[in-house]
Amino acid sequence: MSDSLVILGSQWGDEGKGKVVDLLTTDFDYIVRYQGGSNAGHTVIIGDKKYALHLIPSGILREGKKNLITNGVVIALEELVAEMEKIKDVVDNFEGRLYISDRAHIVFPYHKLLDQLSEQSKKGSKVGTTLKGIGPAYMSKYGRTGIRIADLFEPTYFKERLKNAVEEAKKIAENVYGVKTDLDTQKIYDETMGYFEKIAPLVADTSLMLYNAMEKGEKVLFEGAQGTMLDIDMGTYPYVTSSNSSALGLCNGTGLPPKLVGKATVWGVSKAYVTRVGAGPFPTELKDRHGELLRERGHEYGTTTGRPRRTGWLDLVALRFASRINGFDGLVITKLDVLDGLDEVKVAVAYEIDGKVVKDFPASPVELEKCKPVYKTLKGWKKSTYGLTDKSQLPEEALQFIKTIEEETKIPVVMVSTGAERNQYIWL
Ligand code: GDP
Ligand code: IMO
Ligand code: MG
Repeated sequence: MSDSLVILGSQWGDEGKGKVVDLLTTDFDYIVRYQGGSNAGHTVIIGDKKYALHLIPSGILREGKKNLITNGVVIALEELVAEMEKIKDVVDNFEGRLYISDRAHIVFPYHKLLDQLSEQSKKGSKVGTTLKGIGPAYMSKYGRTGIRIADLFEPTYFKERLKNAVEEAKKIAENVYGVKTDLDTQKIYDETMGYFEKIAPLVADTSLMLYNAMEKGEKVLFEGAQGTMLDIDMGTYPYVTSSNSSALGLCNGTGLPPKLVGKATVWGVSKAYVTRVGAGPFPTELKDRHGELLRERGHEYGTTTGRPRRTGWLDLVALRFASRINGFDGLVITKLDVLDGLDEVKVAVAYEIDGKVVKDFPASPVELEKCKPVYKTLKGWKKSTYGLTDKSQLPEEALQFIKTIEEETKIPVVMVSTGAERNQYIWL
């Protein structure tokens, strides 16, 4: 493995990235969140304590590590400050442990409002966003009306930009959605500056920091948020998030050159089955008792929104696609234990669309809705894999399941997770 490692979601998010990043953090100097925002919910369980991280990298729970929120992340300051408060029992001083990019864009209350109004106004095609203002915040960024952390050091400049942005948001709310709002520039300004005071000492040029660190050979762990199939360019558009949540987001999200990022090892995290929160195509979705069983056994309810997650069999067409897009060097299969005790386990190896067998993931949502999975049925394992830590303990059928994933994707499975806790995993 090279000095740097990228951990990415290979599916539609919630693959267990937080758990994997937390356990691997011990081998790294820097842990980096580079895209998305508080739409992410990364769970780390340590003993009887459960931490849900939204903006802060999952490496924060270990001492002596530098955690970076880089320029590609959109930050709601009130949420960042609340999150820091929630982990105060583990981190009493964030200085030297958490760094926030001066180039990161800010999510303001009007972004959250516009997210809500946009979702409400969509008739049959709601995305089912987390309502965290992510889409509108990236719209501001790309529309060049966004406000960055660096701007907060210049109060006059910030206020002027904020005034324009609030006026624009009010007009959109009123003229597009017919909703009169009480958005108030002064109030937002005061609140923002209040939160900013608490994080100002943590602001840094994270692009420069990372460049220097990687040039020196220090070890960097990149923590993806969301998953490849939610990527704005390569995912199941328009049912996606608004950032590049695949490996494609690494350069623009960190400000690192491709040749440095390209040296990193890339591992994709995939559940042993599939879940999806929100709307959009999901070829292997199970709407029967099997789907219900997976949801209950896997506790499949959103970390950020509490919504029940849709569930289905492992989709190797999507995983093959994710492996290609991201250039995976290895796969981490999580929640193997959730499949314990089933008579049979299915994996999709192709789709059938209008009678034709397709092995490549289609672009069109209309085609995707027509996809019928072509399943390979494997024998289930009747033993518990929960909490196992050694490959030799795995049932033969579970090993066969892993082998099938490797054969279909041509990517080695490097690790299997057998429970939510830190120490419940197996190196393969
Ligand atoms: P993330 O967004 O990719 O970090 O994933 P989430 O934290 O949103 O969702 C994964 C859920 O599965 C969390 O509740 C984890 O505690 C839990 N989890 C992670 N790995 C395992 C595993 O191997 N087995 C079981 N049973 N639960 C796991
Ligand atoms: P983590 O990092 C699962 C989904 C939403 C919705 C779509 C767009 O925990 O894996 P957004 O609020 O981003 O505009 O919503 O993306 N979504 C996630 N689903 N895990 C996530 O993050 C997600 N972040 C966004 O449910 O379908
Ligand atoms: Mg999550």
